[in-house]
Amino acid sequence: MNTWRIKPLDAILATAEKKSLHRSLGAFQLTMLGIGAIIGTGIFVLTAAAAQKAGPGMMLSFIVAGFVCAVAALCYSELASMVPVSGSAYTYTYAVMGELLAWMVGWALILEYAVAASAVCVGWSGYIMGLIEHATGFALPELLSNGPAWSMNGYMPVADFSHGIVNLPAIIVAGLVTWLLVMGTSESAMVNAILVVIKVTALTAFIVLSLPLLKGENFTPLMPTGLFGHDGLGVIGAAASIFFAYVGFDAVSTAAEETKNPQRNVPIGLIGSLAICTIFYLLVAAGVIGTVGAQPLRDAAGVVLSPDSAAFAAHCKELAAAGNAPIVCSREALAEVLRINGFAQVGNLVGLAASIALPSVILMMIYGQTRIFFVMARDGLLPEKLADVHPKWKTPWKVTIFTGIFVAIAAAFFPVGQLADISNSGTLFAFFMVAIAVLVLRKTDPNRRRPFKTPLIWIVAPLAIAGTLGLYLNLPLVAKLVLPIWGAIGLVIYFGYSRSHSHVGKGLIEVHEDDSDVPPSSVPPIS
Ligand code: ALA
Repeated sequence: MNTWRIKPLDAILATAEKKSLHRSLGAFQLTMLGIGAIIGTGIFVLTAAAAQKAGPGMMLSFIVAGFVCAVAALCYSELASMVPVSGSAYTYTYAVMGELLAWMVGWALILEYAVAASAVCVGWSGYIMGLIEHATGFALPELLSNGPAWSMNGYMPVADFSHGIVNLPAIIVAGLVTWLLVMGTSESAMVNAILVVIKVTALTAFIVLSLPLLKGENFTPLMPTGLFGHDGLGVIGAAASIFFAYVGFDAVSTAAEETKNPQRNVPIGLIGSLAICTIFYLLVAAGVIGTVGAQPLRDAAGVVLSPDSAAFAAHCKELAAAGNAPIVCSREALAEVLRINGFAQVGNLVGLAASIALPSVILMMIYGQTRIFFVMARDGLLPEKLADVHPKWKTPWKVTIFTGIFVAIAAAFFPVGQLADISNSGTLFAFFMVAIAVLVLRKTDPNRRRPFKTPLIWIVAPLAIAGTLGLYLNLPLVAKLVLPIWGAIGLVIYFGYSRSHSHVGKGLIEVHEDDSDVPPSSVPPIS
């Protein structure tokens, strides 16, 4: 038996061809889809946490994180254009490095997509609550609009409920988005395009109003926590967190199976959306720092506090009571910056835009997650019933609802920064594997047609490998620990269930003509 169980590329392509989801997306829609998945909580909310970790040095953090994403995206594009099927990093790894590693990547992608969706739900909760409070004066009790703060006591996670018990608005938005996805992809893509326009307009308004007000002195000291601070602080620590702001471009490759002419359109969607977002982020970060300052908050002993700690929340509360909360405390940083600068109405409108548009990111993340589950179930690694397509809505509804419940639970009980960091640990692992896969494939299958070829591959891929590893090592301890623990659970499931149910393991690689139009779950078992 082949221990590594490599699924031949030709079989993957044939499977996709015969059993594919409906192909409806073009290059423009795909770029929109990318921007829809990328711009979100990272820039609207986590800018405050990044400032707490790195001060004005977060500008450099955005550049470092953007650079790592760019080299990873170039690797992604080569594989996405060669293997234009659902499943992104999971499918590529299956074809190149075998089933076990593919399973591990798919398993890590759950951290990326589902936990990222949870983070954005929590980010949305902060904006909607701020907006409602400014518009009506009504504020939901703090304990019902925040999850607890988590920290490590040795190796035991401990929850502190003094500033939050459950995040109700986050649960509500997770439920609504899941419902939208169960109803159908094409409607979702159209809604997404409208929301992208709203989001880009809000960021443009922020940039246009804030840039003329920049003050040079707000940029010093530039790196108050240094390049490498302790437990996720410093410019590189902030880069590891703010990396979240770029996550999502790979949702484009995940949608390859639903894309027209994927060989051309997927690379355009990936690189185009990433480039547009990077420009926005740098301008927005400059606007925040230059207008209101971005120095981190310290405790009485002068030590910089972690933005997800209970001590940080308590300190922010004291300062807010005195009417003196700095921007690093804000849960709706961009709206707050505008209000402070005298643009109260525009600030509220930016808050409104974020509240309307952040659900498009949640939508893309849950969408990406369901498609990965769908492909893993189609390969037999997860129960095939999960891949059932609804007869009327034509969506993988079971897996969508399952994902939605997972997302809602994580959003209810964790703070946004920690969710983002945990999500990053899974994403960085997936990108790391893709960069290795693209190199391996150049060696093992050099003559296969590559509609998009990564330029300078022997420089770009090693940079992606080193960059993803470097950022992972600079995440806070909790996020760093989650990946190996999650991986260990994944291995138990793989050896307990997936390995014996795998289609490739059963020698079931080819798909026959008469399978072409039936849902994957109806494929007759072959022993
Ligand atoms: N990049 C996405 C966001 O910032 C995940 O919300």
